[in-house]
Amino acid sequence: MLNKNIFIRLKNSLFYISIFSTLLFYACQSSVQELPQTHPYPVIQDATSSNAMAVSAHPLATRVGLSVLKKGGNAIDATIAIQFALAVVYPRAGNIGGGGFMVIRTDEGEYASLDYREKAPKLGSRDMYLNSEKNVIPNLSRIGHLAVGVPGTVDGLLKAHAKYGQLAFADLIQPAIDLAANGYKLSPKEVNRLNKTQEDFRKHNTKMPVFVKEKPWQVGDLLVQQDLAQTLTLIRDQGRAGFYEGSTADKIVAEMEAGKGIISHEDLLAYESKWRTPIIGDYKNYTIISMPPPSSGGIALMQLLKLVEPYPLSKDGFHSVDAIHTMVEAERRVYADRAKHLGDIDFYPVPQDSLLEDAYLLDRMADFSRDTATKSESVAAGAFEVAMESFETTHTSVVDKDGNAVAVTTTLNGNYGSKVVVSDAGFLLNNEMDDFSAKPGVPNMYGLIGNEANAIQPGKRMLSSMTPTIIEKDGQLHLVLGAPGGSTIITAVFQVFLNVAEFNMSLEEAVWASRFHHQWLPDQIMYEKDGLDNVVKKALEDKGHTLNERAYLALIKAIQVLPNGDLQGVGDNRSEDHAEGY
Ligand code: DON
Repeated sequence: MLNKNIFIRLKNSLFYISIFSTLLFYACQSSVQELPQTHPYPVIQDATSSNAMAVSAHPLATRVGLSVLKKGGNAIDATIAIQFALAVVYPRAGNIGGGGFMVIRTDEGEYASLDYREKAPKLGSRDMYLNSEKNVIPNLSRIGHLAVGVPGTVDGLLKAHAKYGQLAFADLIQPAIDLAANGYKLSPKEVNRLNKTQEDFRKHNTKMPVFVKEKPWQVGDLLVQQDLAQTLTLIRDQGRAGFYEGSTADKIVAEMEAGKGIISHEDLLAYESKWRTPIIGDYKNYTIISMPPPSSGGIALMQLLKLVEPYPLSKDGFHSVDAIHTMVEAERRVYADRAKHLGDIDFYPVPQDSLLEDAYLLDRMADFSRDTATKSESVAAGAFEVAMESFETTHTSVVDKDGNAVAVTTTLNGNYGSKVVVSDAGFLLNNEMDDFSAKPGVPNMYGLIGNEANAIQPGKRMLSSMTPTIIEKDGQLHLVLGAPGGSTIITAVFQVFLNVAEFNMSLEEAVWASRFHHQWLPDQIMYEKDGLDNVVKKALEDKGHTLNERAYLALIKAIQVLPNGDLQGVGDNRSEDHAEGY
C-alpha cells in the first residue's frame, strides 16, 4: 500500500505541490491533515474521527455543523446548520436564494431524497431567452434578474427539519445569523472571486450590495452582512413565511420589478420542495443511493457504473489507457441519454426504468471497441416509447454518531448566481434558469445540450447534474460524497467511487487523484492539468480521442466509514474544503 501511495503521490506531485504541502499529526481521538496557508481559518482537508464527521466548503461552516453534532444534533440537523452557515461564509454558492438536493440514509437503513430545486416562474416560457429570429440571446439566462429561478433552499431545509430534525430549528440557523451580523474574514479564493465579480455586481444591482468595494478586497478583510442577518432572523422566527411571505417576499418581488425579472408573490407562495424516491442500484457488492430527477445525477451515475461493471477496470489499472477508454466510452453514451431523456419528472415522462434496465445497458455498449473511440456523432440517445400524455454549487457530507448520513449539494448555479443581491435583504439570487435547454441543441454554460425533456415551462424544475450520493458496502454505510462542478459532477463522483472500489485507493488518494471527463458533446476528453502522463495521452489519441486540458474538474467532499468503524472525512485539495470530526 505504501508503494502505491508513493506512486500516486508522485504521479500527481506537480498538481499537489502547486496547491499545498502537508502536515500530519495525531491527536487522541482524531488524526488530521492540515493545510498551512494564508486562509484566515485553519483548513483541514483530511481528518479521521471515531464519532461523527462533517466536510464542507468552508472551515467555519464545518465547525458550525460539528458543534451541532457535539450537542447531540443528528446529521440532518448538522447539515441544515451548515447550509445556512454556507449562505453567509461561502456566498458564491452557499445560499438561501438558490436550491439543492439532499440524500439521506438513516442509521436504520431508511433512504430518502429531498428535491428543493428552483422552479421556472409562472411567467417563464419555452422561448423566453430567444430573439425574434429564434436565436438564444447571449447571457440572458446566465446573469441578471431574468436568469433567476424561484428559490427552494429555505423550504427544503425546513422540510428536512420537520421530518428528521432533533434540535430546535432556531438553534440551527442562529450560528449563521451570528456569522452574518458579526462578520467573518475572507479567504484567498473568496477574495479572488469577489474582486473578479465587482463589475458584474455593479452592473446588475440597483442598490450596491456589501460585496462591492471601492478598493480590492484583501485576504482577512471582515465581511459583515447585516441585511442577511435580518433575513435569516425572519426565517428563524417565522419559518417559511419569513422568506416566501411578508417583507422578504416583498423585497424579492420589488427587486424583480426593479430589474425586469418575473418572479411574483404567487411564485413564492406556490414554491414547495418535494420528497422523492431515491435512485437505488447495485454495483458488485455496493449499493448506490443517489438523487433522482430533476437531477440527472443518480440515473447517470447508475448507468455509468452498470456500463463499466463487466470490464476488468481493476486489472487494467488506475489511469491506464484501457480503463480511461472504457470509462470515457460509457460517459459518452450516458450523456447522450441525458441530453434527450432527462428533465423534471413532474412535467416530462422520463423513462427512468428503461434507462436503468439491464438489457438496455448491456446493449448500450454493443458497439464499444476496446481499440477505437466511438465518434459522438454516431452515438444517439437510446430510443424508447415515451408516453407524452401531458405535459458555482457546493456539497456537504455529514455522518453523525449513530450512523445517520447526509449528502447534500446546493447551488446558485454560477459563481454568485445571477449576481443580483435582493436589495435590503442581503442574499444572492441564483441563475439556475440556464440549466434549462433555452433552445434544443444549443449548449448551456456547462456545454450541455438538451431538448424537449428540459424545455422551459412555468413551474417546471430545470435539469441538474448534482449527484449527492451515499454508498453501502455489503449493506453497511461506506461512502458519502458529492461535488460542485456542473456537468463534471457526475463523472467525478463516478471516478472517486471507482478509485476506492476498483483501484484500491484510500479516500484521500481517491479524492485528490486527477480526473477526466467526457460528456458526449463536445466530443473530447477533458483532463486536469498535469493529470495524465504523455504516454497515456498519446495512446488515447491513437485510439481516436481528442484531449482538452482543464484547470480542475469538480470539487469532491467525501466521508468513508473505515474498516475499524472510524470515519475519514476528505475535502478536495483543489479548494479550501474543510473536514472535521470528533
Ligand atoms: O444543477 C446543476 O447541475 C448546476 N447548476 C450545478 C452548477 C455547479 O456545479 C457549479 N459549480 N461549479
